[in-house]
Amino acid sequence: MKRSFYEKTKSFFINMGKHYKLLRVLAIIGLAFSMLFHRIYLYFKTGTKRFASTAFILLCFMVGNSFAYPVFQEENGFISGEEKEAEVVAVADSQIALADEQQVEYENIKVLDDEDVVDGYSDSQFHDMENVDKYFLDEILEENADTNFQPLKDSEQAEMESIPEMAMAQKPQFDAGDWKLVLINKQHPIPEDYSFSLGMIKTIKGDMECDERIIDDLLLMMQAASEDGVTLAICSPYRDLSYQEYLFNRKVRAYMKKGMSYMEAYSISSQAVTVPGASEHQIGLAIDIISDTYLTLDEGFAETSAGIWLSQHCAEYGFILRYPKGKEAITSIEFEPWHFRYVGRDAAEVIMKEGLCLEEFWDKYL
Ligand code: DAL
Ligand code: ZN
Repeated sequence: MKRSFYEKTKSFFINMGKHYKLLRVLAIIGLAFSMLFHRIYLYFKTGTKRFASTAFILLCFMVGNSFAYPVFQEENGFISGEEKEAEVVAVADSQIALADEQQVEYENIKVLDDEDVVDGYSDSQFHDMENVDKYFLDEILEENADTNFQPLKDSEQAEMESIPEMAMAQKPQFDAGDWKLVLINKQHPIPEDYSFSLGMIKTIKGDMECDERIIDDLLLMMQAASEDGVTLAICSPYRDLSYQEYLFNRKVRAYMKKGMSYMEAYSISSQAVTVPGASEHQIGLAIDIISDTYLTLDEGFAETSAGIWLSQHCAEYGFILRYPKGKEAITSIEFEPWHFRYVGRDAAEVIMKEGLCLEEFWDKYL
């Protein structure tokens, strides 16, 4: 009768143990293993359903692990839209465990300032704003020639510039319920019941939106700058929540590509782009402003004629430099010489004159 492979193996080890005393231990181990594998073989042979279930469980385990691992991460470029945010979170979660393993050299990492950078950056082009919509006064005026907005005459301008001084002399009282003074930051996210109306300014390139109550002052400021030879451009007015999320996630992704864990990338990103739900851009009271000669959102803008003009004159039109240099520990946001927040003329005058940030103003006056 023909012997099976198992029987042949078994008798091989038995004979080996009988005839070679020195190899007895090896023979016993070999015999034990051949019996074990034979049992496993019989187990699956007599139960194909068992085998199928085990294989199915193994398959599920492997597929599940594949999705959790950043193998599906794009090799090049940022996330291309909101629909990929879930993917970012999944990828990010998978990297949390790496936080302790990867040592990031912070001193070599530049804080990425700009919010509206185009996709697929490299370091040298990171601040390239060429492809970002910018709204210049000329284009706005041309498109709105038949609307009510009237540039101020010189005498009206002079009168307006003296208003804050009068207001200062009268020591204005401030009201914590004033819509202009609402404090929005990471500790004070936008209240769920916050409401406002968006106003639209038509421009040649498209529509620009912000809180309708600040449009006149914004245009007056741009006009006054223009009369002083400074051509301002608005590059980031109102944003909705999903766009803020998109910008924030894109920034996180950019840092993760530089080797940071998700936690590190989240933390450093939130110094430049406010966490979604806590940005003044979302309530239409913040405007990012640059100029025709300086198209980047970085600290260098502060030294340009436009940056200097804005810091000297913004309060006359109710705007403040919201994230000043030296106040980073209070605002939790890096110095942003391009980000202007509308608070109304009285408060703006106090804030800019006293060199406060909005958080300090609240502590002192409200
Ligand atoms: N860049 C400012 C902080 C914002 O995202 O609201
Ligand atoms: Zn901004």
